[in-house]
Amino acid sequence: MLLLFVAVAAAIRSLSLSDVNFLHTTDTHGWYLGHQNQPVYSGDWGDFVSFAAHLKQTAHERGQDLLLVDSGDRHDGNGLSDITVPNGVVLMPIFMRQHYDIVTLGNHELYLLDAALQEAHQVAPHYANHYVCSNVEYWENGTWNVFGQRYRYFTTPQQKLRVLALLFLFDFTRNAKGTKVTPIERAVKERWFEDLLVEYGPDNVDLIVVVGHVPVDRKWNELGLLHAKLRLRFPETKVQYFGGHSHIRDFVVYDDHLTALQSGRFCETVGFLSINMTSPNPGRSRYFRSYIDFNRELFEFHSNKDKFDTDEGMQVKRQIAVAREQLGLDNVTGHVTDANYYMDYVPLSHPKNLYKLLTDRVLPLLPRATALEQRLIIINTGSVRYDLYKGPYTVDTHYIVSPFQNDWVSIQVPKDVALQIAPKLNEAPYIAYMRPPHQRNEAQLLAAANAKRHAGDAQVVMGAAPKLTKGYVTYDDFGHDGDDTEHKAVVQFPIPNVVQSQELCGLDPKELVEVVFYSFIEPNVRWALAELGHKAPAANFYSRRYLGLLLNDYVATHQV
Ligand SMILES: *[C@@H]1O[C@H](CO)[C@@H](O)[C@H](O)[C@H]1NC(C)=O
Ligand SMILES: *[C@@H]1O[C@H](CO)[C@@H](O)[C@H](O)[C@H]1NC(C)=O
Ligand SMILES: *[C@@H]1O[C@H](CO)[C@@H](O)[C@H](O)[C@H]1NC(C)=O
Ligand SMILES: [Zn+2]
Ligand SMILES: [Zn+2]
Repeated sequence: MLLLFVAVAAAIRSLSLSDVNFLHTTDTHGWYLGHQNQPVYSGDWGDFVSFAAHLKQTAHERGQDLLLVDSGDRHDGNGLSDITVPNGVVLMPIFMRQHYDIVTLGNHELYLLDAALQEAHQVAPHYANHYVCSNVEYWENGTWNVFGQRYRYFTTPQQKLRVLALLFLFDFTRNAKGTKVTPIERAVKERWFEDLLVEYGPDNVDLIVVVGHVPVDRKWNELGLLHAKLRLRFPETKVQYFGGHSHIRDFVVYDDHLTALQSGRFCETVGFLSINMTSPNPGRSRYFRSYIDFNRELFEFHSNKDKFDTDEGMQVKRQIAVAREQLGLDNVTGHVTDANYYMDYVPLSHPKNLYKLLTDRVLPLLPRATALEQRLIIINTGSVRYDLYKGPYTVDTHYIVSPFQNDWVSIQVPKDVALQIAPKLNEAPYIAYMRPPHQRNEAQLLAAANAKRHAGDAQVVMGAAPKLTKGYVTYDDFGHDGDDTEHKAVVQFPIPNVVQSQELCGLDPKELVEVVFYSFIEPNVRWALAELGHKAPAANFYSRRYLGLLLNDYVATHQV
């Protein structure tokens, strides 16, 4: 037992607390039950509640502050959120057990008006003045209303720091009718923002916290815009950004007094950040960041308390157990025994690639709706959200792998044209929203792949290194020591916009082929056909049996 602990501890990097500390979650997408088939991310929301309470207590004992921050996207991606109607009724009461100091919404709270109103009527009142949203509104009683409040100004309990908190959603346009997003570029020109900059300045603000459902990457210029605007009024005030949406771990140094942290996705990560408010030196003397793997052992390790579970944490664990039971999420409908199937840890053609499994074996199960014998089924790679892990396949699993309940539509075109659609769509790298969010940062994917190559060389030298588990090795502006657990890097292979299953026979290139795809990408398919010089017929409804259901069918009846 002791030996095991030493081996584990050797690969863990401790947290370094300072004057003001933050725990940050983002893009949790309903994963509050924990990852059942992956020990590295198996912590549940109750464990997280206990952990946050301990860390806050430790900070307070040292006269330091700890603030909890969440930057949205709680819906979509897990049975706990998606199996209920409306989506989120069981989920949100569990989420709300965490005592956030600053909390806001993401785009996934805005696709359906139901979800948006749940934020307005349930979540925002629960968090009272801790719920902040600067640039999104909803329509009610004949007027536009702010979710919670536009900003929060408060004094921290320990260090008595005067904090101004702002919260922004990226320039999102697919929001439900009855909600309104004002892009940052316009929001900073609005009256309320101008007034804010009159009322607050360097004399009465020690720290600005901007929580954004916005990637912190410099290439996404929205935070850069805000940064330029804030620096006119606050040339040297400390500003801290917390970002999200692109589902990656990232940390960016904007200037000596401003850094930005992004804390992954799906309850795989709790981001930690501390600021030394008095250090005369910038960089690492002032800032410390860590990406904590979301599991109980690490939460216990960082808490360093004799008894880990708090009463409240235990209550949340019970609440989770009741929810699982009540929703039947653990009902087993099949088993995955042959392999873990990955979206991008292996190339597309690899037998353990999830897209290969889907295109070779699962998509052909889609019942035929027309008499045409030959068929192509095209899916955008973003329609898959997560890997398929070995172990029991439960009611929960298809919500995890592919939650989107889109309709299939189809068109009939000659085979030689049909076969060019997917290649055409894959030529167009700008269709970013067709791919999984974490696949959109190509620079980071490349850096990690290169580093992995070098790490391969180094391993020969470090013969006695502890055995590392597979997981994230993050490359950010401070280097690659940010992950609290040292992992063997997984390489993420770039994947295309779309993949397809082919059911073809015969040699005649002019024979008609049924081309089937989600209605979600119909505009893209039409674009591709136009590029190919083919006048596309109107798409017809084909089937409602969406990908997640086909996967259920396949796993229930086949060896996987
Ligand atoms: C709209 O009116 C109802 C009924 O008076 C009230 O309960 C609700 O809080 C109002 N909504 C807003 C956003 O003011
Ligand atoms: C902050 O940095 C200063 C200067 O390096 C140091 O003296 C002080 O102990 C640090 N504060 C904390 C809380 O670590
Ligand atoms: C789960 O199994 C129970 C007991 O067999 C059943 O009553 C319930 O309907 C199932 N729920 C789901 C969502 O499959
Ligand atoms: Zn997200
Ligand atoms: Zn998002």
